[in-house]
Amino acid sequence: MLIGVPKEIKNHEYRVGLTPSGVRELVAGGQHKVLVQTHAGLAIGFTDEQYIQAGASIASTAAEVFERADMVVKVKEPQPVECRMLRPGQVLFTYLHLAPDPEQTKLLVESQAVAIAYETVTDERGGLPLLSPMSEVAGRMAIQAGAHALEKAQGGRGVLLGGVPGVSPARVAVIGGGVVGLNAARMALGAGAEVTILDKSLTRLKEIDMVFGGRIKTLMSNSANIDECIREADMVIGAVLIPGAAAPKLVTRAMLKHMKPGAVLVDVAIDQGGCFETSRATTHQDPIYIVDGIVHYCVANMPGGVARTSTQALTNATLPYMQELANKGWRQALLDNPHLRNGLNICHGRVTYQAVARDLGYPFVDPMEAIKAAS
Ligand SMILES: NC(=O)c1ccc[n+]([C@@H]2O[C@H](COP(=O)([O-])OP(=O)(O)OC[C@H]3O[C@@H](n4cnc5c(N)ncnc54)[C@H](O)[C@@H]3O)[C@@H](O)[C@H]2O)c1
Repeated sequence: MLIGVPKEIKNHEYRVGLTPSGVRELVAGGQHKVLVQTHAGLAIGFTDEQYIQAGASIASTAAEVFERADMVVKVKEPQPVECRMLRPGQVLFTYLHLAPDPEQTKLLVESQAVAIAYETVTDERGGLPLLSPMSEVAGRMAIQAGAHALEKAQGGRGVLLGGVPGVSPARVAVIGGGVVGLNAARMALGAGAEVTILDKSLTRLKEIDMVFGGRIKTLMSNSANIDECIREADMVIGAVLIPGAAAPKLVTRAMLKHMKPGAVLVDVAIDQGGCFETSRATTHQDPIYIVDGIVHYCVANMPGGVARTSTQALTNATLPYMQELANKGWRQALLDNPHLRNGLNICHGRVTYQAVARDLGYPFVDPMEAIKAAS
């Protein structure tokens, strides 16, 4: 199979669909070839020479990649110009997030391509293995970003996370103890802060208590506990997720009055609308703003800020699925692996993901039926 890797064209997107070491793994058996668009990874230190050494060929344009590849691998959802380059039966493997995006969905349906979304591939434990690497990155980065925002020059309290001998460390409250929350807590603990995690799931709180051996305080998430916790916190991380729904507003504007002036809110859940009433999405160019003396950091695509680490983490997770698709061909790979099949969103003009069909008014076609019909 020929696997194509175009350069990402979305504004300020520096990640790339495959690292040079990923290329090396794919071409190792001699069965597959990889075609990378020139300068696809240059911004994050992956040069054309590195891709060539790993065994890839270089294409001078995206059009050449889309024209020749059997499977196109990317990071972000295809832009309209990319959708129009897809051809019937070609596999597209990338983040799609189709439910809120009628235009992209229409173009992918029209393309007759086979669109497999990273974000809906599942694993045997009910997790989302191609979404979690970005949550790991965002969770860890939340503490780094929040620590910077705590500095006086940013409007923060002027508090160092770990304190110093003789001076108390900062207090960090993490609301939501999933992938983001756990990774944020780990970083905060590592920096020497006093950390509390709040979650609605008692099972999750028990797991966290075991994992950290009691070094992190756990609290049931309810409005009384949140209210009490944020009064004492120097930094609050918003990391909740209710799958398929907007994030609940757990900290209201009125509650900000009880917080310490210059405390920091990092709303990682901003991509689902945010879990603080005063959150609004910001960018890496202008990441923070202040409301009622409280510093807010609400960047909606945090992993993009550490694009090299994110690309490596993403390739680690996506590569086994790419290999499966390339080795078996997309039909057999999807027939054999129900978790990969859950990633199938559009197949030869049919919408095969229930939530996308429901939200955008397309008839839902069972993925098995669509795969067999395309054979
Ligand atoms: N901003 C970014 O760049 C970025 C990057 C990655 C992920 N995210 C977002 O971060 C959020 C968290 O993602 P995740 O992967 O950790 O999800 P996850 O499913 O692993 O964890 C979510 C946790 O929230 C808990 N929760 C739900 N309702 C709660 C409540 N009322 N109070 C406290 N806890 C509650 C759940 O029990 C669960 O443990 C999501 O909205 C995700 O989209 C944002």
